[in-house]
Amino acid sequence: MIVWQKEADLTRQNSLGFSVCAERYLKVEDLEQLRLALDEVKANNWPLLILGGGSNLVLADYLPGAVISVGCQGVRVLADDEDQAIVEVGAGENWHGFVGKLLEMGLHGLENLALIPGSVGAAPVQNIGAYGVELADCFHSLTAYDREQDELVQLNAEDCRFGYRDSLFKSVAPGRYIIWQVRFSLRTVFQPRLEYKALANHLKAEGIGQPGAQQVYQAVCEIRNSKLPVPTLIGNAGSFFENPVVTAEQHEQLKLQFPELVSYPDQPGFYKLAAGWLIDQAGWKGHNAGAVGVYEKQALVLVNHGGGDAQQLLQLAGQIRDSVQKKFAVSLKMEPRVYPG
Ligand code: EPU
Repeated sequence: MIVWQKEADLTRQNSLGFSVCAERYLKVEDLEQLRLALDEVKANNWPLLILGGGSNLVLADYLPGAVISVGCQGVRVLADDEDQAIVEVGAGENWHGFVGKLLEMGLHGLENLALIPGSVGAAPVQNIGAYGVELADCFHSLTAYDREQDELVQLNAEDCRFGYRDSLFKSVAPGRYIIWQVRFSLRTVFQPRLEYKALANHLKAEGIGQPGAQQVYQAVCEIRNSKLPVPTLIGNAGSFFENPVVTAEQHEQLKLQFPELVSYPDQPGFYKLAAGWLIDQAGWKGHNAGAVGVYEKQALVLVNHGGGDAQQLLQLAGQIRDSVQKKFAVSLKMEPRVYPG
């Protein structure tokens, strides 16, 4: 038996803190409940949103149809040997809590992804990444419910088609799969990943030459806390735009015009630009438009100071996009998903 909650308030379930009401909402605790809920969704042809931590979503005031969140919990070691372990985790677990648990278990690889808001099940959807590491680096496989075949499927890294902030679940087959459990391949011996300059510099400044796992985890938390707003205090959805990739030719022209341009080499022949720098240079950092605005410490993050809504935020995002296009001839792509689209 399942009982939908009618006219459910999701204000606390979206990190932007928008006042959102779902026509019906259900948190499923097991696969039987998930199947029953999906049967009903299908029979009634309801639009469906699968809600994770709600940290990468721009939600409208009213969500018609159904919203389901996955409650699958638990962290367990499936296999381990001297060098590595395979760990399976429920999609409903909190991501940061999971990273902390791995640290306690002495299993390594995800330290740089500490403090990313959201659930484990949402993490593969946009292949979360930070400080030189992305989920795909430690990903083993996952179990998902395939709504097209009406069955559970196991997908490996290749199946998931991970890219920069992208995957099968985001751009190839959105809405088809409901991620239930994710498996990671983790190392028993810690090897720090310090390619990201801000992280290496932070550790150096603290006089830490050969950091341990706890120190890297701690440093990542400190950097994030210094730059990014805590969603429970200031509503936000992390980076609001992807860092755009341009050709080497366009990069060269931009660099001539803007010698301070912040960029990183990407695939051969391409460069990734720091969208935060572009937005900052276009004069938006700290700008407020009523209840919404651009975070004062990181221009890539749009915020809701309280009482804002999707319409206001998207209007501001559109203005930012237009002005960056005009100044740099670079088009910004939004990172969070807008629902209903
Ligand atoms: N910058 C500015 N002004 C700003 C913001 C940034 O000039 O207001 C410049 C600085 O030079 C800075 C550079 O841009 O050194 C890069 O900024 P930062 O290190 O903060 O990283 P980012 O490229 O803005 C990306 C991810 C973040 C992730 C960090 C750390 C994307 C879209 N964002 O941000 O991910 O935490 O790197 O790895 O790739 C997220 O996706 O929600 C997210 C927070």
